[in-house]
Amino acid sequence: MFEAIQPAPADPILGLTDAFKADPNPEKINLGVGVYQDANGKTPTLPSVAEAGRRLAAEAGSKSYLPITGSADYSAAVQGLMFGGDHEAVASGRAVTAHTPGGTGALRVTADFIRANLPTKRVWVTTPTWANHVPVFAAGGLEAKPFPYFDKATNGLAFDAAVEGLGEAEPGDAVLLHGCCHNPSGIDPTAEQWEQLADLAQQRGLLPVLDFAYQGFAEGLTEDAAGLRAFCRPGAELIVCNSFSKNFGLYCERVGGVTIVASDADRRRVVESQLKRSIRSNYSNPPAHGAQLVTTVLGDSALRQQWEGELASMRERINGMRSLLVAKLAEHGVPGDYSFIERQRGMFSFSGLTPDQVEALRERHSIYIVGSGRINVAGVTPTNIDQLCAAIGEVVGG
Ligand code: LMR
Repeated sequence: MFEAIQPAPADPILGLTDAFKADPNPEKINLGVGVYQDANGKTPTLPSVAEAGRRLAAEAGSKSYLPITGSADYSAAVQGLMFGGDHEAVASGRAVTAHTPGGTGALRVTADFIRANLPTKRVWVTTPTWANHVPVFAAGGLEAKPFPYFDKATNGLAFDAAVEGLGEAEPGDAVLLHGCCHNPSGIDPTAEQWEQLADLAQQRGLLPVLDFAYQGFAEGLTEDAAGLRAFCRPGAELIVCNSFSKNFGLYCERVGGVTIVASDADRRRVVESQLKRSIRSNYSNPPAHGAQLVTTVLGDSALRQQWEGELASMRERINGMRSLLVAKLAEHGVPGDYSFIERQRGMFSFSGLTPDQVEALRERHSIYIVGSGRINVAGVTPTNIDQLCAAIGEVVGG
């Protein structure tokens, strides 16, 4: 029965981790998958999360099923962090949050929910976008339509082209935006541009879907939520898919959420019933532990303060590496102006390296970066930066 099955290509991001692990070169560098590494190249459990884990272990609570949408405490914590607890959308009860297995789970639930409940079968995605967006939405039965976003010439946002591209969207279509730290470009709209995008969505009747996987990695928890708060106007409908993989370092716990904001609390109740249906036929109900860790940290003011400090340290280390990268590339005589790296936000730098150069880095130097030229800056350390810049110089020059 299986003879006719053809091999699938390796995943463009997670496949790199497999290739990296199999590489025997002791000098190898993994700048592929978006996982934070400290200055020693390690991905430690955040101390605040470790403390939450100790508290949970001491409690030895129940392992019974959670509700389909997860725990109510977790949902409240997610909404409070994203919108602020006193936000009208939260206080009015028109938002429902379901705990999902990671941000990817949230995106897939979103796709399933849209396909099952809305007339559109289309979602507009930025060019470029995260390598898994189109496959997730396609698996959920939606067609992904590209619209311009990144301007290669300026290493900035192609805002006018984006607005023009979205002009082709039909009322009811979904439009997927990255809440902050656009993956892979690191380029976000300004506060004013967010407002303009929210105007556009409102005027054209588009459904905004915000992929919000990096809250706290650009400027801060509140600042980074400016985009989604711009969309969350009184009565406006939107969907937010969040993740705690990065800002809590909870990658393998798979903890994220889908938040659907309806026009009012009555509509929310209807939406919630359908959201539950989408989840029940997918993974039934979420795994508890990761969400318990998040809820414990966010629910304890001292632990929360500690976590915010740890998040700020991650952000600052990455930004420090951005500056060092610009300086070191110049020091190593790499031709070109790389100052844009310091203007990009979040974990990634869209380096401008071509697929051939990416391939050469891997073949000749055991340096692994995503084929689009996306570098995980959080994998750059004071120890590997000279080796990295020398290698880039070699492949760019040669
Ligand atoms: C990434 O973009 O590297 C991360 O979001 C991890 C993943 O699942 O691709």
